[in-house]
Amino acid sequence: RAWRAVVITLLPESFPGILGQSLTGKALKDGIWQLDPIDLRPFGEGKHRNVDDTPAGGGAGMVLRPDVMGRAIEHAQTRAAPGAPLIYLSPRGKPFDQGRARALAKGPGATLICGRFEGLDQRVIDHYEIEEVSIGDYVLTGGELAAQVMLDAVVRLLPGVLGNEASTEEESFSEGLLEHPQYTRPADWQGHAIPDVLMSGHHGEIAKWRREMAEKLTKRRRPDLWEKKKS
Ligand code: ADE
Repeated sequence: RAWRAVVITLLPESFPGILGQSLTGKALKDGIWQLDPIDLRPFGEGKHRNVDDTPAGGGAGMVLRPDVMGRAIEHAQTRAAPGAPLIYLSPRGKPFDQGRARALAKGPGATLICGRFEGLDQRVIDHYEIEEVSIGDYVLTGGELAAQVMLDAVVRLLPGVLGNEASTEEESFSEGLLEHPQYTRPADWQGHAIPDVLMSGHHGEIAKWRREMAEKLTKRRRPDLWEKKKS
């Protein structure tokens, strides 16, 4: 059975986007996962299908109406895999990470809500117990790119998507470390040699070197990850 992504968006034509290319695109064609973009616009109010209104209490921007989003969510739930979580992409959300990608990949799918404007009415978040997830500490114009980032990270973990199934378990992040440096031919490039150990053929020594490099890099560049790993 296919992993099922249902996406509520005002820009349905932005899907599959880059997910239609390369490994994720092949997996989509192969039926390993399915994508069901749901256009928010038809659920809008009145002749013009309005989806937003000014913020209560005043201020800049527009807020997505709870009645409109509520109808779209009810419709999305008829398309989603049973038990799939409801996620709203928002810079206020809990940070997305490899652990979450793995957890989602183990489940039946996800329903992703993409915001535009200043965001979603809080009542709809509370009513449906929607979880807010962020892809990082910066503000995008909408949730569509964030949804695509999340989906890419999940889909590549689905069985049959990567050629080498072992490769996602060997990855740095599954171990809580940054990846060691990689090299390939030529052996000498502009006077820079490949580290001798990698040319030695000693698999034990190579594994040890890679581990040490990954640890050094993580300590220096991401002390937050290093602390998490030690605890
Ligand atoms: N929407 C806008 N910015 C976002 C972010 N950083 N993460 C997730 N969704 C977003």
